[in-house]
Amino acid sequence: MITVTNLRKTYRQGERTVTALDDVTLAVPKGSIHGIVGHSGAGKSTLVRCLTLLDRPTSGSVVIDGRELTSVKDSEIRTARRRIGMVFQHANLMDSRTAAQNVAHPLELVKTPKSEISRKVDELLGLVGLTEFADAYPSQLSGGQKQRVGIARALASDPDVLLCDEPTSALDPATTEDILTLIRNLTRTLNLTVLVITHEMHVVKRICDSVSLLERGRIIEHGPLHEVVGDRSGSLGKSLMPLPSSSLDATLPELDLLLVGETASAPILSELTRRFDANVNVIAGTVETLAGSRFGRLRVEVDSPVPLSEITAYLEGAGVHVEVAA
Ligand SMILES: Nc1ncnc2c1ncn2[C@@H]1O[C@H](COP(=O)(O)OP(=O)(O)OP(=O)(O)O)[C@@H](O)[C@H]1O
Ligand SMILES: [Mg+2]
Repeated sequence: MITVTNLRKTYRQGERTVTALDDVTLAVPKGSIHGIVGHSGAGKSTLVRCLTLLDRPTSGSVVIDGRELTSVKDSEIRTARRRIGMVFQHANLMDSRTAAQNVAHPLELVKTPKSEISRKVDELLGLVGLTEFADAYPSQLSGGQKQRVGIARALASDPDVLLCDEPTSALDPATTEDILTLIRNLTRTLNLTVLVITHEMHVVKRICDSVSLLERGRIIEHGPLHEVVGDRSGSLGKSLMPLPSSSLDATLPELDLLLVGETASAPILSELTRRFDANVNVIAGTVETLAGSRFGRLRVEVDSPVPLSEITAYLEGAGVHVEVAA
């Protein structure tokens, strides 16, 4: 579990004080994945640095699995940091070491016995699906394989928490899928608490249980994925499930429908046809499963003798979010 409370971090830039994190409060339950999204300069890296004790917060608290990090003494930082695994955009492997030796490195640093290192490295390489590449050097590995080695290395000290800073930004789409699936599966298998910093909504959609939007050091929107997607007032919901585009030469009224959970599977459109003697054409639409819930976003054209207001009232009664397209 990660709990961040009223976290503030200010930097001096000459005469100016820059507030990089402004009263950030955040809770990530054990076994779940939380996404942090935000524009450049929003404070994402500062948050990661405060969580890994690379930077000391100006005020507020960070508790990771029951341990208050802000009060950890400098001499104990190393030990405290072992509870936190880090995965970066680039794996930054040591070129002169094999995959296995890279994974072994953090264990060597804390003088783990050789036999224990060898057992652990085998296990970790197995977990990330690289058993056959144990003796390969980074130059012989693909970007995705290098990232797998980086993940295995991050897990070497049996951390409770994994912090991933843009873990797939340097990968192609297919490899991104593989790595995201791996992170998701490891979270389940090892019961990790995971924070993923990303600028890609796709990453949030694929693996996050909850998400926060950081803007100028503040969290301005947050929540479980299924709630955020359903919240039409926020910008996260819109970017997670963008509005389908409208037809250019619309002559009939068009409705934007957001269907969540059960309603996404219900035969809403045939029901409209039956009840309102309507012809309904789908102009654009997507149905996706996010964080285990189904979401449908449809733009439909409706031709019916019944006033549109009656149709929208019916849809809203059936649990569909409706907007009349402009
Ligand atoms: N060491 C520092 N000294 C002074 N100001 C800093 C320092 N580190 C960060 N800042 C400032 O804090 C703010 C947040 O920076 P941060 O690096 O956390 O943003 P970010 O969200 O990671 O951006 P990006 O997506 O570009 O990596 C910025 O205004 C930045 O200039
Ligand atoms: Mg950054």
